[in-house]
Amino acid sequence: MAALLEVKNLGISFGGLRAVDDFEISINKGRLYGLIGPNGAGKTTVFNLLTGVYKPSEGVIKLDSHNITGLKTVEINKAGIARTFQNIRLFKDLSVIDNVKAGLHNHFKYSTIEGILRMPSFFKTEKAMTEKAMELLKVFELDQEAEYLAANLPYGKQRKLEIARALATDPKLLLLDEPAAGMNPNETKELMDTIRFVRDNFDMTILLIEHDMKLVSGICEELTVLNFGRILAQGPTGKVLNDPQVITAYLGE
Ligand SMILES: Nc1ncnc2c1ncn2[C@@H]1O[C@H](COP(=O)(O)OP(=O)(O)OP(=O)(O)O)[C@@H](O)[C@H]1O
Ligand SMILES: [Mg+2]
Repeated sequence: MAALLEVKNLGISFGGLRAVDDFEISINKGRLYGLIGPNGAGKTTVFNLLTGVYKPSEGVIKLDSHNITGLKTVEINKAGIARTFQNIRLFKDLSVIDNVKAGLHNHFKYSTIEGILRMPSFFKTEKAMTEKAMELLKVFELDQEAEYLAANLPYGKQRKLEIARALATDPKLLLLDEPAAGMNPNETKELMDTIRFVRDNFDMTILLIEHDMKLVSGICEELTVLNFGRILAQGPTGKVLNDPQVITAYLGE
């Protein structure tokens, strides 16, 4: 069976800098997969390539056997890739629930006329969206804060909300860029449970970038290690973390 995400020979240069070179990865459906490596290794750039923020100089990206190379970010999201950002990006002036609804808009459609005239179908969709958004917020234990402004949530909860909003677009593949950054050990432990829950209960495939080795070794089944834009090691987590080259790259930080 073909992998859900299949990437071959992906590369991009910024001026003279080869930020990502000959990157390849194959992620099966339902996997919890980690992308790790020292600062500046090219991890976020890989996410930006996968989500159409940057067009690759070369390479092929296939999602569910469809070639999505070179598509725009919106099209790639519609094709089934959603992400979170290293620096949290939320609609800070909107409520928690409206942030999730913004993600849902991909799937619940009503025409502008129906919206303006407040016709019955509009109410039906509004109600369905609210219900769906609340369901998602419950998973992340954010339902009590549904009406809070996103900006007023503590940092750890903002990170969770960003994941909820990404899931609201109903992706096949979820990309998380340093989801535990800035979290205390308790929040990180909770987040690990949440990520596992999302994988198991949403039937999700997850690729995450993380520096927290406890999280990485605790939940990732497979890893790719990047160093200076190139793959240093790839395979089952236990094997990769014991690779002398990987240990050297990390000690050398
Ligand atoms: N738009 C850009 N223009 C120029 N250089 C860039 C651009 N985006 C990334 N880079 C460079 O590419 C390299 C890889 O950056 P990237 O952000 O992918 O690293 P990273 O592995 O995510 O690091 P970190 O762990 O610090 O987040 C860095 O040298 C960075 O400065
Ligand atoms: Mg990064």
